This record gives sequence, C-alpha cells and structure tokens, in this order.
Amino acid sequence: MKSLKLISIRSFLATLILSIGGSMASAAELRYVSGAVGNAIEVFQTLVKPWEEATGHSVTLVPMPASTTDQFGQYRLWLAAGNADIDLYQTDVIWAPQLADQFIDLTEHAQDLSPLHFPSIIESQTVDGKLVALPIFTDAPALYYRKDLLEKHGQPVPSTWEQLTEVAQIVQDAERSEGNDDIWGFVWQGNAYEGLTCDALEWVKSFGGGQIVEPDGTISINNPQAIAALELASTWPGTISPPGVLAYQEEEARGVWQTGNAVFMRNWPYAYSLGNGDDSAVKGLFDVTTLPTGGGHDTSAATLGGWNVAVSKYSENQEAAISLARYLAGPEAQKTRTLVASNLPTIISLYEDEDIAREQPIIPRWKDVFLQAVPRPSAPTKIKYNEVSAKFWSAVHNTLSGDGSAAENLELLEFELEELKGSGW
Ligand code: GLC
Repeated sequence: MKSLKLISIRSFLATLILSIGGSMASAAELRYVSGAVGNAIEVFQTLVKPWEEATGHSVTLVPMPASTTDQFGQYRLWLAAGNADIDLYQTDVIWAPQLADQFIDLTEHAQDLSPLHFPSIIESQTVDGKLVALPIFTDAPALYYRKDLLEKHGQPVPSTWEQLTEVAQIVQDAERSEGNDDIWGFVWQGNAYEGLTCDALEWVKSFGGGQIVEPDGTISINNPQAIAALELASTWPGTISPPGVLAYQEEEARGVWQTGNAVFMRNWPYAYSLGNGDDSAVKGLFDVTTLPTGGGHDTSAATLGGWNVAVSKYSENQEAAISLARYLAGPEAQKTRTLVASNLPTIISLYEDEDIAREQPIIPRWKDVFLQAVPRPSAPTKIKYNEVSAKFWSAVHNTLSGDGSAAENLELLEFELEELKGSGW
C-alpha cells in the first residue's frame, strides 16, 4: 500500500515536471525594443497585458533613447551583428528601405490585417514586395496653442509663420511685462537630429520650397522659397524661442509647454493626451490647429511620421513575435493606444469610433492632416536616406545657429546631395 502510494506520488511529480517543462518550452519570453518618448513604456505595458494573458507568452520592453536617430544607429549595429536577443523592433516610418533585409516578410502573416489599414501606410512599409513591418500608429504634427493667453492679449490663432512670429513676440512681451518671466513664444525641435528634418521640411514645403528631394529623385532644396523659410526660422532662437531650442527634441519642447511656459508648440499628437493629464499645468487651456503656411504660399505642410513593428530575422521566437506584432497592429491594441496615448491609428475604421472621438477629439480632426502629410524623401533616396537627412538637418542647424547664411548652407547642401546621388541611391 505504502509503496503504491509512493509510486503514484512519483508519477504525479513526474507528470507535473513534464507538463511544466512542456509549457515552459512553448511560452516565449520576448524582447521588444522601442524609444521611450512620453509615457511610451507604461502605454506598452497596458497594451500587451491582454496578449500576454491570452497567449501565455511574455514580453519585456527594452527602452531606448527617445531620439529616433540614436535608435537607428543602435539597431543597425545589433542587426548587422545578427543579435538574437531582440525579437521585435519598433521602427520609424522612414526606416523600411534601409533595414528591409534584416526583418522577416510579414505579407503572409498579415493577409487579413493589411486591408484594415490605410493602403499608403502599408505601402510605406513594403520594400520590393516584402512587408517589412506592421503599422502601429501614424503621426502628423499640430500647432499647439494656448487659448487662454491668445484671448487675454486679444491675439488671433496664426495662419502664417510670419503671423506666428509676430503673435508669439507680442504675447511673450506682454506676459513678461506682467512678471511671467519664464514664458516663451514658440517651442519646437531644433536639435541636430531627425526631428529637425521633420520641422524644417514643414517650413520649406509650406513656403512652396519643395521636399528636399522630390519623389522622382530631383534634388530641389536650393531654391529661394526654401532660403526664405530658413531665414525666417533662424530669427526665432533667442527671440520667441529659448536659445536652448537648438538642443530640443520632442520631449524638451513638451516639458516647457506642459509647465505652462510656451504660447505655441510644434509637436506630434502624443502631446495632446499628456497635455490634458492631471499633472499638466496646461490641462484644458490649449487647442491644436494645423501648422501655418508661409512666404505667400497657401498650403501648410505636416511631415508624415509614424511607428511600426518588425520581427527580427535573428529572433529565435518568431511565431510568438509574429503573434505580438499582429496584436499590436490590430484593432484592439490600436484602439487602446489611441485612447490612452492619443496616437493616430492606422486602422481606417477607428477614425469613426465614438469612444475615440469623445476621449481624444484630436483624432477624427487629424485624419485629413495625416492623409495630406508630406513624406520625407526616404522612398527616392532609399538606403541613403539617413545620410541625406543628416546632411539636411546639419545645414538647417548651422543656419539656425548663425553658422553660414541659409543661401550658403543650402547651396553647399545641394552640392553634397548631388555627390551622394552620384555614388548611387
Ligand atoms: C516622431 C515621428 C517619427 C519621426 C520622429 C522625429 O516620432 O513619428 O516618424 O522620425 O518623430 O523625431
């Protein structure tokens, strides 16, 4: 009797160990890398919980620097080294042509999902027929403005960059004369990185100065409208913008804005829900509008941004990684993301969603802005995009810093881009 009991306990334990071992082998522990802008880490944790519960897998977010430029440098190194520790990469909309070889083709895995997204976004992530990444949100910037301050000083919401320059100065001066010493007129992204390419493309394009490199590959940046746009922007640092704006990325601009120290801010929609958070000094005091036009030109320009998820070809957990990528790009996760982080969805139907319209009114308002957004020239310059962008943001940063005139810097830039193009892109 005693020995029988022992045997059955033993066999019970053996079965238990086997079953734990078995389920451990199938439960993957994924690693996902992403830049940590705003509350991205908390948002990610909220988003993945239902997926972890449903699948039994788990995922750890490996946070990266906020700058997309720094992320790109690091990811390129990891991927070139065939790093198997990272299963999924959160990728910027501009990276697909440059990293396409390092990620698996998701076409087959997303056959049911792809038609739910805007076709242009799916196209931006498709390189030579390979679906490199699945979209998780798109981005198109806004001009944030303080309703209370414009009203108080009887100033309009500006529709041109020239008017913005004027209004920002008037409100800044008036506020400072009342003792509001920390106020600035306008904060934006002036650091020498990809974010400055986005801001400066908007100035240039909205002045009628083209898109740096046109979709057919023509280098168009050296023209009078582009020069005029940069000349106006270079009057801002130290007048309506803090001198430190030349080192600002998105988060530094948001920091000044959200503590109540800016009249205007150029930023992406993520700053909308954070600005309306309980810890924000500007909660309920601001609204958004489209970026201004300039130089007598009548259409404004918003740079197209956005983020995607790609599965590393070196991942040893590809099945689970694909499942997570599908989940993050799907309607459930995109809806939650939009509700908690006011990121623009890439799923068409979510622009009609009533919960979203109520909680984050910027979203339905921003559909057209996003649909008309200007892409950076990553498609025509392909694997050379990063170099093209770095040369552009350097020329702009030099101009803003008073190191050479706009005309000199754009002439030199044109020459450098011609050289780069000559070596093949
Ligand atoms: C936002 C955009 C991204 C862009 C970056 C620049 O994150 O979504 O596309 O490259 O800003 O800072």
